[in-house]
Amino acid sequence: MTTITHAPFGTCGQGAASLYTLKNERGMTVSVLDYGAAIVSIRVPDKNGSFDDVVLGYDELDGYRSKKYYLGATIGRFCNRIARGRFSLGDKEYQLACNDNGVNHLHGGEVGFDQRLWEAEIVHNDEVGQMLVLRLESLDGEDGYPGTLSVALCISLDEENALALHYRSQSDADTLCSLTNHSYFNLSGHDSGDVLEHQLRVCASHFLEADAQSIPTGRVLPVADTPMDFRVFHTVGARIDEDNEQLRNGNGYDHCWVLDKKGDGIQLAAQLYDPKSGRLLSCYTDSPCIQVYSGNFIDGSQPGKGGHYYTRRSGICLETQFAPDSPNHPEWESPVLRAGEFYDNTTIYQFGIK
Ligand code: GLA
Repeated sequence: MTTITHAPFGTCGQGAASLYTLKNERGMTVSVLDYGAAIVSIRVPDKNGSFDDVVLGYDELDGYRSKKYYLGATIGRFCNRIARGRFSLGDKEYQLACNDNGVNHLHGGEVGFDQRLWEAEIVHNDEVGQMLVLRLESLDGEDGYPGTLSVALCISLDEENALALHYRSQSDADTLCSLTNHSYFNLSGHDSGDVLEHQLRVCASHFLEADAQSIPTGRVLPVADTPMDFRVFHTVGARIDEDNEQLRNGNGYDHCWVLDKKGDGIQLAAQLYDPKSGRLLSCYTDSPCIQVYSGNFIDGSQPGKGGHYYTRRSGICLETQFAPDSPNHPEWESPVLRAGEFYDNTTIYQFGIK
């Protein structure tokens, strides 16, 4: 069964922050900060049983308040981008903050969910033991979004080393909702260098073509015969710097894949394997899409955990979500949450050895 301990983690204008650590009987630990509902560390064994921390993060609260890379943070109200920050619901037009180079909306805007102090509660569950429930209320008009949205994120860890993130939200008015976690994984260890030798698999036959601002063009392209084809394992670095317009636009991989789905429900979306450690991460979700971002913007300018300076591509993100700019693409699965209805979404990161 999983048990949870907690400890102070600095203070901010919203109050005192705390770090909650979930530990199962196999020794896996996951530490979660209530500021930004951010995953700070995940310690799992390698093929020899030696534990390492496999996500990028900071030792202090200020790092999470810097909003530089969204390390480990929960992202909302709408993760990823919305072109020009504009969308409409019915006959009403909305304008969100254009916080991405002043042009487009990114990751919930100026004060997204990654910058909020969530309310934490430790609850008991007969199956897994203790779970961490983080709650947030995002008021009507925050960053331009309509409706007051109540969010509950239930984080649990089982004895199969599966970390489950279960999001439930409800709004008093029609709004948008697409939540994700922005952990940067490095299965060799958070401070071990780049992830270019990791092998990636994405269960998707199509991806969204993106422009130079990473805004979808509207074209849903087959991955076949392109460097975006990860239907079987491929080394992340094998094709990442190929002379390819999409890789140039993304400065590497920073794209959204449309998951191959067999009906509804939670399904395998992606896998990440590190031959060096033998660690295998399997990502399951009921989200329609996944943004894979190979940490192209990390620039070594900010100290992370243990004083380590993370450099370019030292972590890779597997951000399950509705498609970026989907509010402006009625032909894609809709991220609109109708007043009074429930947003119910699960992503599971399961750690093992291959
Ligand atoms: C997402 C985006 C990237 C980048 C990161 C944050 O992953 O897709 O373009 O903005 O967030 O650094």
